[in-house]
Amino acid sequence: MSKRPSIGFSEFSAPEKGVAIVLVTKEGKFAREAEAIGGASLIARLIEISQFKGKLGAIAETMAPEGAGIDRVVLVGVGDAAKLANDDWLKIGGAAFSRIGHSSTASVTFALPETQLSPENAADFALGMLLRAYRFDKYKTKKNDDNGEEPKGGVKITLQAENPSAAKKAFADAEAIAAGVKLARDLVNEPANVMGPVEFAEEAVKLEKLGVKVEILTEKELKKLGMGALLGVAQGSVRPPRVAVMEWNGGKSKEKPVAFIGKGVVFDTGGISIKPAAGMEDMKGDMGGAAAVTGLMHALAARKARVNAVGIIGLVENMPDGNAQRPGDIVTSMSGQTIEVLNTDAEGRLVLADALWYANDRFKPRFMVDLATLTGAIMVALGQYHAGLFSNDDELAGQLNAAGQATGERVWRMPLGPDYDKLIDSKTADMKNIGGRYGGAITAAQFLKRFVGDTPWAHLDVAGTAIGAPNNEYSQSWASGFGVRLLDRLVRDNFEG
Ligand code: BES
Ligand code: MN
Ligand code: ZN
Repeated sequence: MSKRPSIGFSEFSAPEKGVAIVLVTKEGKFAREAEAIGGASLIARLIEISQFKGKLGAIAETMAPEGAGIDRVVLVGVGDAAKLANDDWLKIGGAAFSRIGHSSTASVTFALPETQLSPENAADFALGMLLRAYRFDKYKTKKNDDNGEEPKGGVKITLQAENPSAAKKAFADAEAIAAGVKLARDLVNEPANVMGPVEFAEEAVKLEKLGVKVEILTEKELKKLGMGALLGVAQGSVRPPRVAVMEWNGGKSKEKPVAFIGKGVVFDTGGISIKPAAGMEDMKGDMGGAAAVTGLMHALAARKARVNAVGIIGLVENMPDGNAQRPGDIVTSMSGQTIEVLNTDAEGRLVLADALWYANDRFKPRFMVDLATLTGAIMVALGQYHAGLFSNDDELAGQLNAAGQATGERVWRMPLGPDYDKLIDSKTADMKNIGGRYGGAITAAQFLKRFVGDTPWAHLDVAGTAIGAPNNEYSQSWASGFGVRLLDRLVRDNFEG
């Protein structure tokens, strides 16, 4: 397995070995601090000869002359330095990391001409590098699929920056967030035979090391609580369900927590309403919401966020079986509301119904955000570059939208309303678990809304963004870890005392 790069910070000085990474603007300009790298005018000649335009994320590269000490010089474009925003520094860091190759040492002259770079810029750049370095290769017994961006024994990267101690401080938070994203990606990438509800719950328990209080509810306790909707989904699997409750108390002792709820269907066959075979393997990622919540709790605890936060994940497997629930079954949720299960493949909402109700009932949170790979319909509506956002609260929706822009984990608000709500009324029970042919992501959200009371709530449908999402400069993995950075930012910008 490739080793995680180690990143440090220092004052500016001529790099002595390995790769020297230099930032270049769209005018082909670079910082004075980089001028002597590889010998006078090497960089200027490289820009000239390769007609380098400094487009954001673009790369030009050359071998250093004999005797220069360093092996290579890599130029990374930053585009228009005055317009850098949102996740641009992550992209630049990711692009830079992709060219470290087999080198074991890299130094970055983290400076631009006429533009002051902040410690946060340096931390974001470094975070982009860490996220790009992620690999899920634990099941490869031979590491022969070399893609050329794999430092063999790990790489030591030094960011030379204006204020290295401030950059280092900012980077501490970035490292906590990177660890949270890595955890979320790992949980999603793990195959379902390895990561069942019990094993997933054990991963949540590991957060205790960081000071998170973790409680695991077993089948017996879920029955006692009356979680009939969640249990109905689980009953077709030989692997029993779990609900994990993770509490991070970094805020004031009397302050109500913020709550994050995740869909954790470790595998979704569809149940008796079984899915077609093609592509079903992707349903090992149907716990992407739960993985994001777990990764978020890791990040908040690791960076000692000054907030009280609770993460609740419903862990089940949706299987067809002699004991599986049938289409037409009516279950009673913890709320007391009855649900006619017309399609056993609309199982995520059943799990979340009880998890949301439980979260609200027990913790009386300031708000609830749930994350779920809930519907294929959200991909039809939005593609894979925005998660669907549904909310009963304009302020919370606005805060999520802002956090999405800032982190590049973007969301797009979708409608809710009584007309859509009517579509899930049932003839024989309080509601049914599917709407009509149209607006499938919306009727799913209306269903959830019936379990949140008056608490400010937002639902993120991450079916298109958490798994199989398009790769970018800082995410090359099937599992993106979507939601960890978004919600960390939501908390950081709005709810830390
Ligand atoms: N887990 C799926 C949604 C999904 C599909 C996530 C593809 C990621 C990729 C969910 O449980 C599901 O099966 N939804 C159905 C709902 C339908 C039966 C109303 C769907 O979207 O088709
Ligand atoms: Mn399903
Ligand atoms: Zn599902």
